[in-house]
Amino acid sequence: MSDTAVSRPVPSDRPGLPRQRGCPFDPAPEYARLREQAPISRISFPGGGSGWLATRYEDVRAILSDPRFSSRLSTAAPHVRPTPAALPEHPLPGALLRLDEPEHARYRRPVMRAFTVKRVQQLRPRIQQIVDEHLDAMERAGGPVDLVAELALPVTSLVICELLGVDYDDRDTFHRLAGQLLAIESSPEEGQQARAELASFMAALVAAKREQPGDDLLSTLIAEADADPDSPLTDIALAVLGSLLLIAGHETTANMIALSTLTLLEHPGQLAALRADAALAVRTVEELLRHLTIIQFGLVRVAAEDLTLGGRSIKAGEYVVASLPSANRDPALGIADPDRLDITRDPAAHVAFGYGPHQCLGQQLARAELQITLTSLFARFPGLRLAVPADRLPFRDDMIIYGLHQLPVTW
Ligand code: HEM
Repeated sequence: MSDTAVSRPVPSDRPGLPRQRGCPFDPAPEYARLREQAPISRISFPGGGSGWLATRYEDVRAILSDPRFSSRLSTAAPHVRPTPAALPEHPLPGALLRLDEPEHARYRRPVMRAFTVKRVQQLRPRIQQIVDEHLDAMERAGGPVDLVAELALPVTSLVICELLGVDYDDRDTFHRLAGQLLAIESSPEEGQQARAELASFMAALVAAKREQPGDDLLSTLIAEADADPDSPLTDIALAVLGSLLLIAGHETTANMIALSTLTLLEHPGQLAALRADAALAVRTVEELLRHLTIIQFGLVRVAAEDLTLGGRSIKAGEYVVASLPSANRDPALGIADPDRLDITRDPAAHVAFGYGPHQCLGQQLARAELQITLTSLFARFPGLRLAVPADRLPFRDDMIIYGLHQLPVTW
């Protein structure tokens, strides 16, 4: 494992976030010990300063649904960035992840309509078509191929591009910016610069869509905003919101596709069960989301007032990290042996998409993409297997979103 910012010694005797995974599919074993012995523990952040780490399911849900824990952070990701950097005191309009109620809901509501179960259901045939075209191309090229570059990334990028109205030819630009935004070694300045570049890319697109609207989400949002004098969706807000949807909409799901593929290849009994019964796809995806929990360092909030959590006193202004990977392995989730992958069970109450008002807006889309891609991939290539030894795979220990940098496969 590389010596990255998170594991770098910090100027404190308090531990940092647990990072040493024993196995690539499991969170660091330290989380299990913390859940048992110190469920709300003191930690140091890589750039200095200290805060709290919550590892139990109930505490994680309590933090994410309690308005006394604010999302208005003064740094983008203090739990993983090397040094805290001051962001504007007031988050940018439309920056959903950084806003609290009631402001947050004003921006989220207009976008939510595009991501309901019903709307995503209508997108399924087109998602299937995109997946099939990429599987055809893989078949024509012949193995080995990198599944990340040839399937996971293009499918998820194309889907969100078409939905939003972004030109897929611009993918090199937004893939590069996503890399800068999500690498834990990026300096605050690099992060800031990537955010600014992405926002101006989106601002240009918003201006172009206003001139020439298309049949896409950005054009719809612009038209709705123009028709409603009370709409909070200014051009800046649309650019910020569009940036978030573009990045959140492809990186997460692409990594889940690649990591899920590998997980199933490494669990042949479970893969055989899925192949024998395609109806298991829905449960398989839920269980993989829970088991793999790719938002690997959890979510961070700041206490808006002095409060008590799990018997510990937390002061106003202190950061609290809610560990999603740990919560999803807590026996309190109510499933037997939560460390085991079991695609036949129903892990409905997992927190892989977060919890509370910020719970993932694109979760139905992510589910549809995962179900379609995984079932189609394994049906098309019955002999799918790794093209390199598993211990040589480049896992994303260095990124906020876990997964694989490459996944060479053949069939
Ligand atoms: C497997 C794939 C995905 C995972 C694991 C995931 C995970 C998450 C999590 C944990 C949050 C909560 C953040 C917080 O509370 O601070 C979140 C929020 C969000 N996600 Fe996803 N996500 C996925 C796919 C997507 C997709 C496909 C989209 C597409 C549009 C999307 C858009 C968003 C947005 C806009 C938010 C912010 C919601 C808000 O703050 O109100 N995500 N996601």
